[in-house]
Amino acid sequence: VLFFQRKKDFSGKKILVTMGPTQEALDPVRFISNHSSGKMGLALARAFAERGAEVHVVSGPVALDLSQDQFSVTRVHSARDMHEASQALHPQMDICVFTAAVADYAPAQVAEEKIKKKDLAITLDLVKNVDIAKELGKTKRSGQLHVGFALETENEEENARAKLDKKNFDLIVLNSAREEGAGFRHDTNKVRIFHKDGKEFKSGLLPKSQIAELILDQIKTIPVWV
Ligand code: CTP
Ligand code: CA
Repeated sequence: VLFFQRKKDFSGKKILVTMGPTQEALDPVRFISNHSSGKMGLALARAFAERGAEVHVVSGPVALDLSQDQFSVTRVHSARDMHEASQALHPQMDICVFTAAVADYAPAQVAEEKIKKKDLAITLDLVKNVDIAKELGKTKRSGQLHVGFALETENEEENARAKLDKKNFDLIVLNSAREEGAGFRHDTNKVRIFHKDGKEFKSGLLPKSQIAELILDQIKTIPVWV
């Protein structure tokens, strides 16, 4: 039997991974959310753990079994709760990876009782949610790394690079929305990775586990390590 020794190149590092969608309640039985599966976040959390890191996952509602993994999991529903849980962990972290598909808006009020059907159309009032990555980016300490994600359908590179600047990321991973077999719900993905210094890395269409390894390898190229 040949045992393959994984390189433990993230040992001693503390990692925060936000993942999954958020759910924004409308009333006791309804919410606004999105199609995020959490699979990319889970693949990253596993890759970091396997490479020796101490991993803390803050996850929105996902249909994934997170109980067998070697990391701590805080389960949340809303963007506000995800922000609170992430903020509490943030000061101790070496690397924060924001894979969560945080709902941009939430209902202005949560009805205490189930909203009854009306005869005509209704209008929902929505308010803007906290931008978790942007808020935590304001308190990023030196030596700490922030990694963001972006899913774009147009002006992909320009939009991704703008988010990298606006949210104080060191690196941003762009998912191709147009790519067959990539993105939401798929087990494969194809990404472009943009670094703060302008460098770009392009992956092929690969299983999310391999995409995760590539992202970790890209993080390793950031000069904070040397
Ligand atoms: N993000 C976050 N909190 C939010 C919105 C986004 O932490 N309220 C993070 C995501 O986890 C991701 C990055 O910011 O790492 C970019 O998310 P995205 O939805 O692409 O960017 P937005 O700024 O929300 O812009 P838009 O949805 O209009 O493209
Ligand atoms: Ca958004």
